[in-house]
Amino acid sequence: MNKMSGLKFKVQPGGRLQGTIRVPGDKSISHRSIMFGSLAEGTTEVSGFLQGDDSLATLNAFRQMGVEIEGPIDGKVTIHGVGMDGLTRPDAPLYLGNSGTSMRLLSGLLAGQKFDVTLAGDESLSGRPMGRVINPLGEMGAEIRSNSDGTAPLQISGGAELKGIDYEMPMASAQVKSSLLLAGLYADGDTCVTEPAPTRDHTERMLTGFGVEVKRDSNKVCLSGGGSLKATKVDVPADISSAAFFLVGASIADGSDLTLQHVGMNPTRIGVINILREMGANIEVLNERISGGEPVADLRVQSAPLHGIEIPVDQVPLAIDEFPVLFVAAACADGETTLTGAEELRVKESDRIQVMADGLTTLGVDARPTPDGVVIQGGNIGGGTVYSHHDHRISMSFAMAGLRATAPIEIEGCDNVNTSFPGFASLASGAGLHIEEEL
Ligand code: S3P
Repeated sequence: MNKMSGLKFKVQPGGRLQGTIRVPGDKSISHRSIMFGSLAEGTTEVSGFLQGDDSLATLNAFRQMGVEIEGPIDGKVTIHGVGMDGLTRPDAPLYLGNSGTSMRLLSGLLAGQKFDVTLAGDESLSGRPMGRVINPLGEMGAEIRSNSDGTAPLQISGGAELKGIDYEMPMASAQVKSSLLLAGLYADGDTCVTEPAPTRDHTERMLTGFGVEVKRDSNKVCLSGGGSLKATKVDVPADISSAAFFLVGASIADGSDLTLQHVGMNPTRIGVINILREMGANIEVLNERISGGEPVADLRVQSAPLHGIEIPVDQVPLAIDEFPVLFVAAACADGETTLTGAEELRVKESDRIQVMADGLTTLGVDARPTPDGVVIQGGNIGGGTVYSHHDHRISMSFAMAGLRATAPIEIEGCDNVNTSFPGFASLASGAGLHIEEEL
């Protein structure tokens, strides 16, 4: 796709964010609700489901494999589970759009089925590394063919006999961990994954909710093959990764006072709050409660002067999707912000280190990319045209930069905002961002 094509955001400078809003449902939990609900025995009721293109790609994939799914209507989905062996062969490749989570988790889940299946994606997904799941799944006995450089489309052969493995993950990736654990459900014996740093644990929590025994011993997680899943109810909280745009926006825009409702506060996801607080942000965590096995809270954020920091490396996996907007916070902070240990950002929906550094530079910010991070000098943000490279989180991050810009910002290639945050522009505009969409 041409980097100039599609939807644009035009953001006028200034504004402040106020009121009370609820951002859409958590993407990671939405994907897993469909996957586990489909494999379960019985009927799973989901509320708060993210009706974004990524989670809908997962939903459609399971429909193509014979699962009856009602909805989504206003975030409600009813899944008539078919049991561990009830999926049927789709009559066409499963097209997963932009969604890395769909492709990596389905690779594991489908490696142990009786039928052949092909997984395909858009241009961005077709360039992302899949060897990180194909290789360990191959050690388990899976037969998956990819392009020679380990990219999609992936052809998974049915009828493989899987055996459990004990895998030391070379990178901190919840998608890789989850892929192996899902294959492990179909494997002979135990499957264990050791992670180099804690990553989001929704798979472990939700499988437990569906009645599977998942054992954790510090950084190692194990499950046994041959079990079954029991249908349950899933309440999907608002996505902290979507809330992050507003946490930063309200922090940097003078006079802001915004409350975000029912935000998922899983400890493996709250790096963005920890980092922003260390930079001086004023974020209050209110009404903490547990909902459907996940901690949730309302977040009140008021504007505050931010200062640059060295981002603690242990927070990187806990804020991995929030760095594009954290770079905008750093551009508005007093002094220098340094990020290291974040080379994974280079293999997301775009190379988020390079793309953010390029866009910030266009806006007059001193942002220097490094192999595994960036160094940003806080200062003024000017106007100009920036390219999102069709990466949803880049588009929304530059939209928030408008709150502190001295001239209009135009963002090219914003169609993929719908992958994780349908309705972003109207929600943000209602809260006070001067944003317009243009085709
Ligand atoms: C996800 C894991 C993360 C994250 C992605 C969603 C998940 O990817 O970036 O948006 O749902 O498991 P990695 O596991 O590759 O870091």
